[in-house]
Amino acid sequence: MNTQILPIEDPGKDESYVRRAAEILRAGGLVIIPTETVYGLAANALDGSAVRRIYEAKGRPSDNPLIVHVSNMEMIPPLVEDFPDGARRLAEAYWPGPLTIIVRKSGRIPPETSGGLDTVAIRMPSHPVARAIIETAGIPLAAPSANLSGKPSPTNARRCIEDMMGRVDAIVDSGSCQVGVESTVITLAEGKPRLLRPGGITLEQLEAVLGQVEVDPAVLHKLSAGAKASSPGMKYKHYAPKAHVILVEGSLQQFAEYVKTHQQGKTAALCFDGEEAFLSVRAFSYGKKEDAATQAARLFDKLRELDDAGEETVYARCPDKEGVGLAVYNRLIRAAGFEVIKL
Ligand code: TXA
Ligand code: MG
Repeated sequence: MNTQILPIEDPGKDESYVRRAAEILRAGGLVIIPTETVYGLAANALDGSAVRRIYEAKGRPSDNPLIVHVSNMEMIPPLVEDFPDGARRLAEAYWPGPLTIIVRKSGRIPPETSGGLDTVAIRMPSHPVARAIIETAGIPLAAPSANLSGKPSPTNARRCIEDMMGRVDAIVDSGSCQVGVESTVITLAEGKPRLLRPGGITLEQLEAVLGQVEVDPAVLHKLSAGAKASSPGMKYKHYAPKAHVILVEGSLQQFAEYVKTHQQGKTAALCFDGEEAFLSVRAFSYGKKEDAATQAARLFDKLRELDDAGEETVYARCPDKEGVGLAVYNRLIRAAGFEVIKL
């Protein structure tokens, strides 16, 4: 397949490319679009055969449901059985933005989009290019992260091209994503609201609107063998670099000492800005220690760089789990296969 690259910096100025992307999507094609979280591999959410092509392009198991992206509230009623009061209040507070809300679905959502479940995940992204493409296409877009299954989500067009050239009809290039980790996912389809995936909208922000929110055990812990995943995505082996990644909890001094005495093969460190000089191995910084937003923005690209560099053992500094840090910790502990050393 011939993949077009559509550079869109400003959806007003680059209107012809916005229209091209929208036309491909309306015709049942696949277009990689930027969002404020990560790039998404989009298709018409209401067209089962278009959505099947997403799973083929990604190499993704087809029982893993997709997020449906909308650009305004009027698009929602046909997609859902009902949109409960809590969902409405969350939408008012945090949409457009990095939040996905799961509710019961209507008959309009094909089983390919919902992975055969009776619920649907909905998100209104804030990225101006994503919004312009959805608005111009006039259809809701199903879009998982635009990585090949098993790789970290792409946060810039270069990584989309690396994974998806020849597998999709077009890739929109709009530079780097601001948030850098995937959206927060909360389900309101059951009794109590439950956080399924932490992201740019924090647990504290959700609780400010809804009161107490349960945290699904899979957010922080490995699912035990045979346990049923509330979010099918959580049961699949998540991205782990080719390197053996180990998360290390402790002070910088303890970390530096540990790394120095435990080198195994080509060894690297995943650390915070300014710590490189204290470390005896090649260091990759994934953000500022006190600023989880910078860590979220850079983490996925650093994980890909570790693979590019052929590192064999990687010791990672442990982020704080507060605020957006919970999302950073959730992604990093999966990359480490839940291996944590406490010093
Ligand atoms: O930020 C994001 O959310 C990005 C951008 C492109 O919007 N998309 C994204 O999609 O991360 P994906 O498919 O990589 O992750 C969606 C997650 C999966 O873990 C999936 O299992 C879960 O949401 N999910 C989707 N629909 C669900 C449903 N009805 N019930 C439970 N979990 C659901
Ligand atoms: Mg994904």
